Amino acid sequence: MAHAMVSLLFVSLFVAPFQLVSAGTILYDGRAPLSLKSADLDASNDPFLTGVKGTEAASHYTAFLGHSVPATPLWNKLSRVPLEQAVSVTIDNSSVFYPGGNNPQFGFRRTELIAQKNKDHSGLNQVLEVGTTVFHFSIKKDLTRPLNYDHEYQIVFIEPNDGTHVFGVQLGSPFTNPTGRLPAKDAHSFKVLDHSLNVLFTTPFLPETWHNFAVQVDWDNRTLAVFFSKDGAPLKPVTKVVPNPTVQPGAAGQGDFHVGVLKLPLVDPADTPANQGDVVHHGTQEGSTEGLFYSGIFVEDVKGGVTVAPRNFVKPLV
Ligand SMILES: *[C@@H]1O[C@H](CO)[C@@H](O)[C@H](O)[C@H]1NC(C)=O
Ligand SMILES: *[C@@H]1O[C@H](CO)[C@@H](O)[C@H](O)[C@H]1NC(C)=O
Repeated sequence: MAHAMVSLLFVSLFVAPFQLVSAGTILYDGRAPLSLKSADLDASNDPFLTGVKGTEAASHYTAFLGHSVPATPLWNKLSRVPLEQAVSVTIDNSSVFYPGGNNPQFGFRRTELIAQKNKDHSGLNQVLEVGTTVFHFSIKKDLTRPLNYDHEYQIVFIEPNDGTHVFGVQLGSPFTNPTGRLPAKDAHSFKVLDHSLNVLFTTPFLPETWHNFAVQVDWDNRTLAVFFSKDGAPLKPVTKVVPNPTVQPGAAGQGDFHVGVLKLPLVDPADTPANQGDVVHHGTQEGSTEGLFYSGIFVEDVKGGVTVAPRNFVKPLV
């Protein structure tokens, strides 16, 4: 049976070479076809809403990388022509976000891509965040624009309206007030966090390597499970199913799916005590240009299994 499926998929690949291969139900595909250009970022065309950024155009902070930085081999290695291009996400000192056009977030520097389909992100959340779904993303270092690991970075998260994160991926030294010893232990490792900020999985952020993650979210039972691999290796479970009970049930627990670079400040000793705890609006930032590369972004329903490699599906973790 597996053999028959493989040949069938080869046929469909031959007929439609740009179609991404999966037998799972892909609810959202953020793997950017090579036809997408920077004008698509500026226009917030699918698959990304590019509004969370500083005052410059989106293409100042984000770029499709064409063939210059190949996307994760995990989803692209079997095709003669890559199925997607990687995306660069950077911040600089101008990356101050004005939510709704005012109340600038001077504490943060941030550039984020938000999943959208048909230019609709909130409608998409109601598709992506019911039943049990799996959020895929792959991350690579931009060696020319390194992060400053003394800071906390929130790089992937689902954010309901209450500002919490259903799950999150963090790099760097978690913000503390007062500032602790920097860099913190494991600052150079990815940390996958649950809603209560418990660390579910940690792995070093290596140079010249794509780090592939998949987070299985059961929206009804409020649990999480994490899969991980490097470069072209199939994803493997790295946690059991763990409870995530502090997420609000139903619509209140749904939110936008963000990938990008959100850099927290360090405490500014010159600030008042109240402002020292207000990471959104206060604190110090170096203003340096820093970035990450992303690819392999998609969300699938587990009904067809969890896709761990092209044409390779496993049962969801229970
Ligand atoms: C960085 O941006 C902040 C906030 O806009 C500003 O106060 C500061 O002067 C800038 N620093 C540099 C080096 O441009
Ligand atoms: C979800 O919870 C229900 C009721 O507690 C249980 O019957 C079901 O097996 C759970 N589903 C999964 C996927 O864990």
